[in-house]
Amino acid sequence: MSRTHEAGQLHTPGSSSIAVVPAWLRPPADVNELLPQLWSRTVERTPAGALRVGGVDVAELAATYGTPLYVVDELDFRSRAVAFRDAFADAFADLCGGADVYYASKAFLATGVARWIAEDGLHLDTSSGGELALGLRGGVLPGRIALHGNNKSRAEIATALEAGVGRIVVDSLEEIDVVADLAHERGVVAPVVLRVTVGVEAHTHSYIATAHEDQKFGLSLGSGAAEAGVAKVLARPELDLHGLHSHIGSQIFDMGGFEVSARRLLGLHRSVEREHGVTLPEIDLGGGYGIAYTSEHAPLPPAEIAGRLAEIVARECLVQGIAVPRVSVEPGRAIAGPSTFTLYEVGTTKEVALDAGARRRYVSVDGGMSDNIRTALYDADYSATIASRASSAPGVLSRVVGKHCESGDVIVKDEFLPADARAGDLLAVPGTGAYCRSMASNYNQVPRPAVVSVREGSSRVLVRRETPADLLALDAG
Ligand code: LLP
Repeated sequence: MSRTHEAGQLHTPGSSSIAVVPAWLRPPADVNELLPQLWSRTVERTPAGALRVGGVDVAELAATYGTPLYVVDELDFRSRAVAFRDAFADAFADLCGGADVYYASKAFLATGVARWIAEDGLHLDTSSGGELALGLRGGVLPGRIALHGNNKSRAEIATALEAGVGRIVVDSLEEIDVVADLAHERGVVAPVVLRVTVGVEAHTHSYIATAHEDQKFGLSLGSGAAEAGVAKVLARPELDLHGLHSHIGSQIFDMGGFEVSARRLLGLHRSVEREHGVTLPEIDLGGGYGIAYTSEHAPLPPAEIAGRLAEIVARECLVQGIAVPRVSVEPGRAIAGPSTFTLYEVGTTKEVALDAGARRRYVSVDGGMSDNIRTALYDADYSATIASRASSAPGVLSRVVGKHCESGDVIVKDEFLPADARAGDLLAVPGTGAYCRSMASNYNQVPRPAVVSVREGSSRVLVRRETPADLLALDAG
C-alpha cells in the first residue's frame, strides 16, 4: 500500500532511504573494541573500560575542559609528521637529494601545532593570511612557508613578501602580475610556483577533487593556460619560478591519479626546459593521501606512499630524459586526521522503527554539524565508541546526531553502539583532526569547542573554547 503523504516516494517502504547497514559495517563481536587504524596511537581502554589518551582519562578531560572537545594526541600527530618527513627524505635521497614535506595547515592549525611543525623540521603550506600568521607565530621559518590560494588578497601577498616566505603558489594569469607588481614595489624577487591543473579525475568526492578541468584552481594544461603562465612568469624579472605544482584532490587511496599527475607535470617541466632553456629546480605533487575513518578504509603508510611516488617520478624523468627536480608534497589530513578524536556527552537516545522490523537508535550528543560538517557536506563516514566505560550490552545499529536544528545534523551515520548507551555517557568519534575544527561554525550560535593536546599524562589547551560572551562580543548590538 503506498502512502498518501505528500513527502511521497522517498519515504515509502523499500525505498533507498530505508536504512540498510552499509556493506563495510559488521556487527562487532565486542562493542568496546578499538580498531587500531581508527585511533591515535596512545589511545587505550583502562582496566575499568574507559578511554585514555596520552596517559589522560577522558573523564578527566571532560571534567577539566567540558564537551564537546577535540583531543589531539601530540605524539601521534608528531610521529606522523616525522614519518612523512623521513619517508620522503629517504625515498628521494638518491633521486634528488631528498624531498620537502609541507604540512597542509588548512587541515588544522594552531600556534602550538605550528611550533611542532617547526621543531620537527617540516615545511608549512598555508592558504590564507590567517594561516600564515599562525605559522609565523609558531616559529616556522618564513623560508619554509608556502602561500596558496586561488584569490589571495593584495594584503595577503604583501604580507607574504614582507615576511619572506619560501614560495607563493600563483594560481591565475592575473595573479602573476599582481605578485610581480607587489614584489617590484618592495624591491624584492618573489619566489613563485605555478599551480597547474593537470586534468586528472581524482577518485574522491567531487567537492574535494581539484585537478579536473571544470573547477576553480590552477592554470589548465589542456587549454594552454599553464604554458602561458610559465612564459608570463619568466618574462617578469621580479619573479623567480621555482617550479610547477599539482594537487589532485583529497582522501585519495589510489596512486593512479598521482601517477598521471606527475607524468603531465613533468611533461610540462620538460617543455619549459626545451622551449625556454630553463631547468626548474622543483616540482610539487600536492597532498591528498586518504586516512581511515571506518573499517572500510585501508590507508597506505607514509613509507609506501613515498616509495611509490619516488618510483613514479624516477620512471617519468627517465622516460622524458630530464634530471629529477627536487620534489615536495603537502599532506594535511594524513598527518592531522588520525591524531584527534572528538569527545561528546550523550544527551538523549531514541529508537526509530524502520521498515521490515528494523530499528535504528538515534544518539544525540552536545555538538554536531557545527564541529564536524564533513558528514553533511561530503557524505563522510565516521565511527564512534562509548568512551567513559566499557559495556557488555550487544551492539545496536545507531546514528550519532548533534543538537542543531536540522535533520541533516548527523555526525556518524552508521555505527553499532551498545544497546545501553545512555545520557551522561561520553562518546568519542575518531579521525576528527583534519577539517573539523578548521571548518567549524557557530551555527545556531553554538560556541566552537576547545582543542586540547595530551601527552605523557598531561593536557594543555591549543585553542580555547568559545563562550557565549565571545559570540555576543562580535554582535554590534
Ligand atoms: N595542498 C593543496 C594545494 C590543497 O588544496 C590541499 C587540500 C592539500 C594540499 C591537503 O590535502 P590533504 O592531504 O589534507 O587531503 N575539507 C575537505 C578537504 C579539502 C582539501 C582542500 N585542499 C575535507 O574535509 O575532506
